[in-house]
Amino acid sequence: MSFRAIVILSALGLVSAQQTLWGQCGGINWTGQKTCGSGAVCTYLNDWYYQCLPGTSTSSRTSTSSSSTRISTSTSAGPAPTGRVGKLPALGWNSWNAYRCDINESKILSAANQMVSLGLKDAGYQYVNIDDCWSNINGRDSSTQQIRPDFNKFPNGIASVASKVHSQGLLLGIYSDAGTKTCAGYPGSLGYESIDAATFSSWGIDYLKYDNCYVPSNWADSGSYSDWGQSKSATRYRQMSSALAAQSRPIQYSLCIWGNAQVWTWGASVGQSWRISGDSSPTWSYITGVINKNVGILGYTNFYGHNDMDMMEIGNGALTLAEQRTHFLMWAALKSPILLGTDLSRLSTDQLNIIKNKELLAFSQDESVGAPAKPYGTATTTPPEYYSGKSSKGVHVFIMNTSSSTSTKTITFANVPGLGSGSYKVHDMWKGTDVGTFSGSWSTSLGSHDSGGWLITPA
Ligand code: GAL
Repeated sequence: MSFRAIVILSALGLVSAQQTLWGQCGGINWTGQKTCGSGAVCTYLNDWYYQCLPGTSTSSRTSTSSSSTRISTSTSAGPAPTGRVGKLPALGWNSWNAYRCDINESKILSAANQMVSLGLKDAGYQYVNIDDCWSNINGRDSSTQQIRPDFNKFPNGIASVASKVHSQGLLLGIYSDAGTKTCAGYPGSLGYESIDAATFSSWGIDYLKYDNCYVPSNWADSGSYSDWGQSKSATRYRQMSSALAAQSRPIQYSLCIWGNAQVWTWGASVGQSWRISGDSSPTWSYITGVINKNVGILGYTNFYGHNDMDMMEIGNGALTLAEQRTHFLMWAALKSPILLGTDLSRLSTDQLNIIKNKELLAFSQDESVGAPAKPYGTATTTPPEYYSGKSSKGVHVFIMNTSSSTSTKTITFANVPGLGSGSYKVHDMWKGTDVGTFSGSWSTSLGSHDSGGWLITPA
């Protein structure tokens, strides 16, 4: 069609712009293009995101509605795993911070046992995730090209671990990489996405952490993109997303992309969480640095898509108890995945009480509010100290003391979004007890690097 013809037809309303392949085409608050160009179908991924995926409207993989296609969760091959898993931030355990490459079947199964015996499963922790170094470092099976376990570490294979973990009522996660090798040099999945997704599904895997090492030069992002969802990084991660979507098993997908390629802008269209930073360490500077990074991008966290501040360091290094409290409280308040990263058998009662705190976990896992807490007021520190957020119970305030001395912190009710100048009941989330009823404001003392969370309801 000539340019002149398009102009005339457009003026007559007969031609409308269409979204390109992989582009967003719907979702809550979406005001852009809602139809896809030829060869692509506008497909429901979650309530927040519809995407133009390859296919035609008659594709048997989807069921059509008037303007878009919604994945049928009952079919064995939906186009995306999203909408089926990962509505809330993942809660679980991961082997990396505890053991690095020194993993084996018995360590993974004892973590699962401890999740049950320590009451972590009852508190809501679900995933037992195997990180790097689980596979045969010498490569794939030469005839099937399948990735294989290292049978010295996992003598009964991964499917056997999955079935034992499942029998405890828990879910099993595994790790691979969107490059030629994992970060520790084991086989990567780039180019083998379909085979690996099918293998993981056949083993009974429920969660995939997908890393970003050994990216070949032809896959490196060149320069900047106005839409990072079109970058080569996004494409590498999307290839695995599509492969997972073709499996009957819903597999939660965690993008370990270290905050590259502005992943928060496209992560929710590809997986359910995305790392926003390099690797965690058990240091106060890591905790404050990653909170500060997240503060700038909190608008991207909601149901089915979460900024991931990386795995927990509670139990590792020399963090004070106050710092471990703040680590946990802020991961819950900002709705990051919470994946414990230590040898669970060595946790003290104080540490267990932190990670099992019912009210903070309930805020993280609220079924009716997806948005995280956000800073309020004028911040005078980096990161900000005062945050507020809603849950199905009402308005919460979270405060962290960034200073190296004990300080008095004041909640002025009228400054908190959703509250006013009247009297409010203050309830302590750490203790699970009511503090009292106060008019106008309430002050408390917080130790250096300590934190608190309060539910504040009209008196
Ligand atoms: C890093 C990743 C870590 C861990 C490690 C394994 O890239 O951020 O969380 O998975 O690789 O080699």
